[in-house]
Amino acid sequence: MLAKHLNIRSLIFFSIFISWCIPTQAEQKANAGLFMKRNLSAVEQKCISCHEDISPGIVADWKNSRHSHSGVSCLDCHQVDSGADWAIDHNEQMGEPFSISTLVSPKVCGRCHANEKDEFDRSGHFRSYRQIIPKDSLHALVNKHEGRNHPEFGGAPNETGCMQCHGTKIEVDENGHPTVETWPNMGMGNIYPDGSTGNCGACHTRHKFDIAESRKPEACANCHLGPDHPDIEVYENSKHGLIYHMEGHEWKWDSPTDAWEPGDYRAPTCATCHMSGIGPLASTHNITRRLYWNLWAKSSGVRNSDDVLSPLLGDGPKGREEMKTVCHQCHSTKHTEGFFAQGDKAVRLYNEVYYKEAKAMYDELKEKGLLGDNPWIDEFQKTFYYLWHHQGRRARHGAMMGAPDYAHWHGFFELQQDLYKLEEIYKERLKKAGK
Ligand code: HEC
Ligand code: HEC
Ligand code: HEC
Ligand code: HEC
Ligand code: HEC
Ligand code: HEC
Ligand code: HEC
Ligand code: HEC
Repeated sequence: MLAKHLNIRSLIFFSIFISWCIPTQAEQKANAGLFMKRNLSAVEQKCISCHEDISPGIVADWKNSRHSHSGVSCLDCHQVDSGADWAIDHNEQMGEPFSISTLVSPKVCGRCHANEKDEFDRSGHFRSYRQIIPKDSLHALVNKHEGRNHPEFGGAPNETGCMQCHGTKIEVDENGHPTVETWPNMGMGNIYPDGSTGNCGACHTRHKFDIAESRKPEACANCHLGPDHPDIEVYENSKHGLIYHMEGHEWKWDSPTDAWEPGDYRAPTCATCHMSGIGPLASTHNITRRLYWNLWAKSSGVRNSDDVLSPLLGDGPKGREEMKTVCHQCHSTKHTEGFFAQGDKAVRLYNEVYYKEAKAMYDELKEKGLLGDNPWIDEFQKTFYYLWHHQGRRARHGAMMGAPDYAHWHGFFELQQDLYKLEEIYKERLKKAGK
C-alpha cells in the first residue's frame, strides 16, 4: 500500500520535473518573440526591450497580436509630432529628443484601417458622447442630483459612470498627459485632442486588438447591460445565447472577415447580427446599419436619416432587409417573417398604447402646472421616466431579440403597473386641483 503511494508520488514529482524542463507554450511564444526583432528597427526594439521590464503585460499582449506578427509596433501607434499638445517627451528614456503619446486616437488606427474608421464615424456609436453635450437635464442629473453640486467630488458620478460607457472630451495637461478628470476611460465616443472620435479599443482590447474577441458577446457586455438596455441579459435569455453558452467555446472565432460563416458557429452573437460579414452581407463597423426602429427613444420611430446625430439615423426598410438576410442563413423565410411580425407588434403596442397614453397625461399635467419642479422626487415624473427609459426599453429590446423574460416580466408586466400608477396620480392631481 505504502509502496504504491510512493510510486504515484514519485511519478507526480517526476512529471512536474519534466514539465519544468520543457518550455511551456507561453514560454515558447515568448522565446519566438525574439525572432521578431528581425522586422523591427533599432528604435522599435528599444521601446520593446525597456517596456518588457517596465510593463511586461503590455508587451506580452502586443507580442500575441496580429500587429506584432505584421511588424506593427509601439512606435506606429505611440510616436507623435513633438509640436502636438498631447506629445509627451520621452527624451530621457530614449537618450535623444523623442516624443510619444499615451493617447492613441481612432485617427491613428485609421491611417491603416480607413474603412473601419469611416464606418464607425457614420454609426450611432460615433455620437455616444456628443449627444450628451447639449442636454441640460442630463447634466443636472449627474452634477446636481447625483454629484450634489459638490465642488470637489461632484464630478465622480460622471467620471466613474456615464463617461466609462459614453466617453468624454479628453483634455491634456501642459506636459501632454491626459488629465485625471478625463482619462483613463473605456467609453465609446471619446473626442480626442486631434479631433477624431471613438474608441477602437472598446470591442478589441489593447494591446491584443483581436478579431476573435470582438466577435464574442462579452465584447459588448460592459456597456449593453442593466435596467435600461439589458442586451447581454436579453441575449442570454434567447435561444441563441443558450447555444452560445453551451458550446461557444468550441466554435471557430478567428476566420478572416467575410469568411466567418455559419458552420464556424451554430448561433449568432451580437457581432454576427449587427456587424459581421455573413452570406451576401459585407462586414461593417456601422452598428446602426441593420436596424429598423429606434428602440432607445421614448417612442420608437422608423429610421430614416443620414445625420449621425439624429435619433433616427439609418434607413429602416433597408436595415430590416439586411437583418433578415442574416436570419436567412440559418432560418426559413416564414420563420423570419413570423419573428419580426411578433416583435413589431410588441413595439407598436408600447408606442401606440403605453407611451401615447402616458405622454398625453404628462402633457396635460404639465400644461395645468401640476408637475413638481424636481423630476426626481415627483412620483408622476419618476414613474413616467421608468416607463419609457427602463421597462419600455426592456420590453422592446426583449421582443426584438427573442427574450421572453424581458419582453414579459421585466417588460410589459411592469409597464401595466406603471400605467395604472400614472393614471391614479393623474386623476388624483386633477381632482385636487379641481380641474
Ligand atoms: C529606457 C526605458 C524606456 C524606453 C527605451 C521607452 N520607454 Fe516608454 N516608458 C518608460 C517608463 C519608465 C515609463 C513610465 C512608466 C510608468 O509611469 O509606469 C514609460 C511610459 C511610456 C508610455 C506611457 C506614457 C506615460 O508617461 O505614462 C508610453 C505610451 C510609452 N512609454 C511608449 C514608449 C515608446 C513608443 C517607446 C519607443 C519609442 C518607449 N516608450 C521607449 C520607459 C521607457
Ligand atoms: C495598434 C496600436 C498600438 C500599438 C502597436 C501599441 N499601442 Fe499602446 N496603446 C494603444 C491604445 C489604443 C492605447 C489606449 C490609449 C487611449 O486611451 O487613448 C494604448 C495605451 C498604452 C499605454 C497606456 C495605457 C496603460 O494601460 O497603461 C502604454 C504604457 C502603452 N500603450 C505602451 C505601449 C507599448 C510599450 C507598446 C509596444 C510594445 C504599445 N503600446 C503598442 C495602441 C497601441
Ligand atoms: C501601421 C499600420 C497599423 C496601425 C496604425 C494599426 N493597425 Fe491594426 N493592423 C495592421 C496590420 C498590418 C494588421 C494585420 C492584417 C492582417 O493580418 O491581415 C492589423 C490587424 C488589426 C486587427 C485584426 C486582428 C485579428 O485578430 O485579425 C485589428 C482588430 C486591428 N488591427 C485594430 C487596430 C486598432 C484598434 C488600431 C489603433 C489602436 C490599429 N489597428 C492600428 C496595421 C495597423
Ligand atoms: C453601462 C454603460 C452606460 C452608462 C453608465 C450610461 N449609459 Fe447611456 N447608454 C448606454 C447604451 C449602451 C445606450 C444605447 C441603448 C440602446 O441603443 O438601446 C445608451 C443610451 C443613452 C442615451 C440615448 C442615446 C442618444 O443618442 O441620445 C442617452 C441620452 C444616454 N445614454 C445618456 C447617459 C447619461 C447622461 C449617463 C449618465 C448619467 C449614461 N447614459 C450612463 C450605456 C450607458
Ligand atoms: C464602451 C461601451 C460600448 C460597447 C463596448 C458597445 N457599445 Fe453599443 N452603444 C454604446 C452607447 C453609449 C450607445 C448609445 C449611442 C448613442 O446613441 O448615443 C450604443 C449604441 C448601440 C446601438 C444602437 C445605435 C443607434 O444608432 O441607435 C447598437 C445596435 C449597438 N450599440 C451595438 C453594439 C454591439 C453589437 C457591440 C459589441 C460588438 C457594442 N454595441 C459595444 C456603448 C457601447
Ligand atoms: C462595437 C465594437 C467594435 C468597435 C468599436 C470597433 N470594432 Fe473593429 N471589429 C469589431 C468586430 C465584431 C469585428 C469582426 C467583424 C466581422 O466578423 O466581420 C472587427 C474587426 C476589425 C478589424 C479586422 C478587419 C479585417 O478585415 O480583418 C479591424 C482592422 C478593426 N476591426 C479595426 C477597428 C478600428 C480601427 C476601430 C475604430 C475606428 C474599431 N475596429 C472599432 C468590433 C468593433
Ligand atoms: C439574432 C440577431 C441578434 C443578436 C444575436 C443580437 N441582436 Fe441586437 N438587435 C437585433 C434586432 C433584430 C434588433 C431590432 C432591430 C430593428 O429595429 O428592427 C436589435 C436591436 C438592438 C439594439 C437596439 C438599438 C436601438 O435602436 O436602440 C441594441 C442596442 C442591440 N440590438 C445590441 C445588441 C447586443 C449588445 C447584442 C449582444 C449582447 C445583440 N444586440 C444581439 C438582432 C440581434
Ligand atoms: C448561425 C445561425 C443562426 C442565425 C444567423 C440566426 N439564428 Fe436563430 N436560431 C439558430 C439556432 C441553431 C436556433 C435553435 C433552434 C432550435 O431551437 O432547435 C435558433 C433559434 C431561434 C429562435 C427560437 C425559436 C426557434 O425556432 O427555436 C428564434 C426566434 C430565432 N432563432 C430568430 C432568429 C432571428 C430573428 C435571426 C436574425 C435576426 C436569427 N435567428 C439568426 C441559428 C441562427
